[in-house]
Amino acid sequence: RTVYLNGEYMPEDEAKVSVFDRGFLMADGVYEVTSVLDGKLIDFDGHAVRLQRSLDELEMRHPSSKEDLLEVHRELVRLNEITDGMIYLQITRGNPGDRDFAYPPQDTAPTVVLFTQAKPGMADSPLTKTGMKVISIPDQRWGRRDIKTVQLLYPSMGKMMAKAAGADDAWMVEDDHITEGTSNNAYIVKGNTIVTRQLGHDILHGITRAAVLRFAREAQMSVEERPFTVAEAQAADEAFITSASMFVMPVVEMDGAAIGSGAPGPVAARLREIYLDESR
Ligand code: PDD
Repeated sequence: RTVYLNGEYMPEDEAKVSVFDRGFLMADGVYEVTSVLDGKLIDFDGHAVRLQRSLDELEMRHPSSKEDLLEVHRELVRLNEITDGMIYLQITRGNPGDRDFAYPPQDTAPTVVLFTQAKPGMADSPLTKTGMKVISIPDQRWGRRDIKTVQLLYPSMGKMMAKAAGADDAWMVEDDHITEGTSNNAYIVKGNTIVTRQLGHDILHGITRAAVLRFAREAQMSVEERPFTVAEAQAADEAFITSASMFVMPVVEMDGAAIGSGAPGPVAARLREIYLDESR
């Protein structure tokens, strides 16, 4: 695989980062994941805008323009012959010196890494037919989940708890209400209404979420942006998640209780179809 590190394309085993890098020592870095379908980047603009916001919130320097980043994305797709898959981008604060809690000077060069992950046929995942099972776990992440940082230990633990319970993912709960999935936004459908948590500091502002809610409203579906409980999810007609890597994926079970008929529902299927049609 050819990867990108600080302005250069190189074989993955030649890409080296300092042990003093604050991304490594302090999870002081942000990231984005952009999907590629049929060689085309999905929602690149949205990811570029959110990246800028994450960097601004952490007072981190943006090392290159949106146009340059787009060029790097395209070049990696070309060099690695990606038809379907993902591009991972990470920018950390770098570090010129020793370990220190205070940020290094503002002119410190950030570390910029991009690599590709090939996922042939990713839009036809078998999970689309069966739906996902989720469990609920307490949300023990920090309070600024709207910043897409590389602090992913708790989401990883959540994924492991889900696996141990025979489920596919965990939905996290704070003050009795679901925030989001370990790496996706969470939705339920009751009657004709799609319910998903409103934007704030407690969830990531999903790029797929923004597109899917826009398409839902354009298709005259009703959308309520508010928190919902585990009990509401269990009593819903359908549930689903959205993310750059899963698009729209049905959820059919919550803590062992079937949601609706226990099979993927029509609203999730329709939104998935619209999303894939419109973004390709
Ligand atoms: N995760 N919520 C969280 C906590 C996420 O990590 C993600 C994305 C989302 C969905 O955002 P988007 O639609 O912009 O992908 C919501 C990526 C895919 C990941 O970590 O791999």
